[in-house]
Amino acid sequence: MEIDRRLFIASIGGAAAVASMSHEARAEALEHYMSDLLEEEDDEKPKFPTVAQIEAEIETRPFRRGTGGVFIAGRGNVKKLPAMPSKPALMDFFNLRFSTVNHCLQSATDALKKGEDQEVVLACLLHDVVQTLMKTDHGWWGAQMFEPYVSEKVTFAIRYHQALRFYPDHQAGYEYPDLYKRMFGEDYTPPPHIEAAYKYARNHKLYGAARAVTVHDLYAFDPNAKVSMDPFVEIIGRHFKQPKEGLGNDNSAVAHFWRTMITPDTPL
Ligand SMILES: [Fe+2]
Ligand SMILES: [Fe+2]
Repeated sequence: MEIDRRLFIASIGGAAAVASMSHEARAEALEHYMSDLLEEEDDEKPKFPTVAQIEAEIETRPFRRGTGGVFIAGRGNVKKLPAMPSKPALMDFFNLRFSTVNHCLQSATDALKKGEDQEVVLACLLHDVVQTLMKTDHGWWGAQMFEPYVSEKVTFAIRYHQALRFYPDHQAGYEYPDLYKRMFGEDYTPPPHIEAAYKYARNHKLYGAARAVTVHDLYAFDPNAKVSMDPFVEIIGRHFKQPKEGLGNDNSAVAHFWRTMITPDTPL
């Protein structure tokens, strides 16, 4: 702890007061001063909710926290969505549908700047966009949604970043984020499927790709960051197999994921 000598002397009545004090009295005053400072520092520490407090909030809302971003307005009512082209490409979803675009762009920009390979950059770019559709278990939803169109490495990185975020890797430069203490509760323990996924991924040859997504994820919350899609157009062209019929029309096992985002106002 750093002690500002002038502030300490002022706190006990100035230089004249200090001069009149015995050694013992000065030592005691310093001890008091330091313990007061420590308490102040404690007060500045962010306070996080407990799991029980977060659970108590469930019945205070008309929606659930796992709801996909396209189905709910941040404030007020939802807006009419712009029409999509008849053969939508990935970029059309970035422009017209995906939520969390800025966050994913910041993450991919960081990955590119730090020299990650193109598949890891693409994984960072895609890692959270499925939250448009579904937030709960978004690693699995996201990996499944992209599986027919990207490499195994990209799918793996998207699927396992969700579990890996709960487990620090000091060597990779990843610490447990305060954001998760706020979102899940400070006493949260991940459920068994997350722990099992972590253990599986930790020993997998593609662990590094999934871990990289979590590492670049952490730097991705700057509201003032300037980001652009431009550096990623070529990477998407090379590593994303765009179906010629358009996403949602290609009769793949996940075409309905894409159709649901195209027309989320369809009642059934
Ligand atoms: Fe994520
Ligand atoms: Fe993220």
